[in-house]
Amino acid sequence: MSKILVTGGTGYIGSHTVVELINEGFEVVIVDNLSNSNIEVLNGIEKITGIRPDFENIDCVDYVALDRMFEKYRDIEAIIHFAASKAVGESVDKPLLYYRNNLVSLINLLQLMPIHKIKNIVFSSSCTVYGQPDILPVTEEAPIKVALSPYGNTKQIGEEIIRDTINANPFYSSIILRYFNPIGAHPTAEIGELPNGVPNNLLPFVTQTAIGLRKQLQVFGNDYNTPDGSCIRDYIHVVDLAKAHVIAVRRLLDNESGKQIETFNLGTGRGLSVLEIIRSFEKVTHVKVPYKIVGRRVGDIEKVWADPAFANNILGWTASETVEETLRSAWQWEKNLAKRTKSE
Ligand code: UFG
Repeated sequence: MSKILVTGGTGYIGSHTVVELINEGFEVVIVDNLSNSNIEVLNGIEKITGIRPDFENIDCVDYVALDRMFEKYRDIEAIIHFAASKAVGESVDKPLLYYRNNLVSLINLLQLMPIHKIKNIVFSSSCTVYGQPDILPVTEEAPIKVALSPYGNTKQIGEEIIRDTINANPFYSSIILRYFNPIGAHPTAEIGELPNGVPNNLLPFVTQTAIGLRKQLQVFGNDYNTPDGSCIRDYIHVVDLAKAHVIAVRRLLDNESGKQIETFNLGTGRGLSVLEIIRSFEKVTHVKVPYKIVGRRVGDIEKVWADPAFANNILGWTASETVEETLRSAWQWEKNLAKRTKSE
């Protein structure tokens, strides 16, 4: 079976993708510098799949270390490149960190690929490239808007770097995946989202508030032009998202499309407001989430949800989990984490 390099493979989306790859019989090498993840994630992956993937503690910014890794694992056939910094606010304060981490790592991989005869790369992009779309649901043809943060800019530039590289050299094949908002955890609750410090994202804040780690959730704004005034997003189960990566990798390996680059939206096609998420979470878990409405968060998009038709038709993939199941999985994971912390 083919060997796949997963950079950022101990991270949130990365770890769920590693599980799906192993379940489908792929061999996996993880490269991660553990800057925003924990080595124990490997135990979770092993518990779920019965297999412990190879792991190399490498920062993808380090060209020499990556080169050595490719020398060691000579039969890698494709790369899924997750490794990146992803906190929007932090990127505003530390733009150079973001440009270095997110762009240098991609450039290193693209430079090393032909040297090590690896043609295929799946790239983690984001719906952030669309900004506030003029037309909803948003398709892959929607114009790219000026990025609202250095983080968002790194995703736009990353896509451009891949396009330019492929234009210059037809050796490569790439699939760019634009994620909407991944939430939830593996149904076994062995792996999930592990935010460092105070969570920036909605769902970890909701689950941490529900379990009592945080006093109150702040809802950023109820005066948007939406039915209940709070922002709308397309929340997708992380396992659904992970499965799309397996399909993308297979498509590249089999050269199914005959195209060198393809871009897909990965979302459910359904928009939910912040208040709807809170209500659904409370209904599914029977746990109250104390919250208060506060002012808008700078840089927030009012509403965005995907048109996933292209991914549905071309990849034969659909986000199949319900939001209820997704929220339940996030809650199981939070409870599991609390149990582990207690017993430590
Ligand atoms: N929100 C709150 N309170 C919180 C956290 C979030 O009300 O404590 C709201 C936000 O205002 C927003 C929604 O919940 O309306 C979702 O916010 P997230 O931070 O979870 O997600 P974003 O849509 O802002 O950002 C996410 C990723 C980014 C990515 C972006 C677009 O975090 O990495 O989607 O793809 F760039």
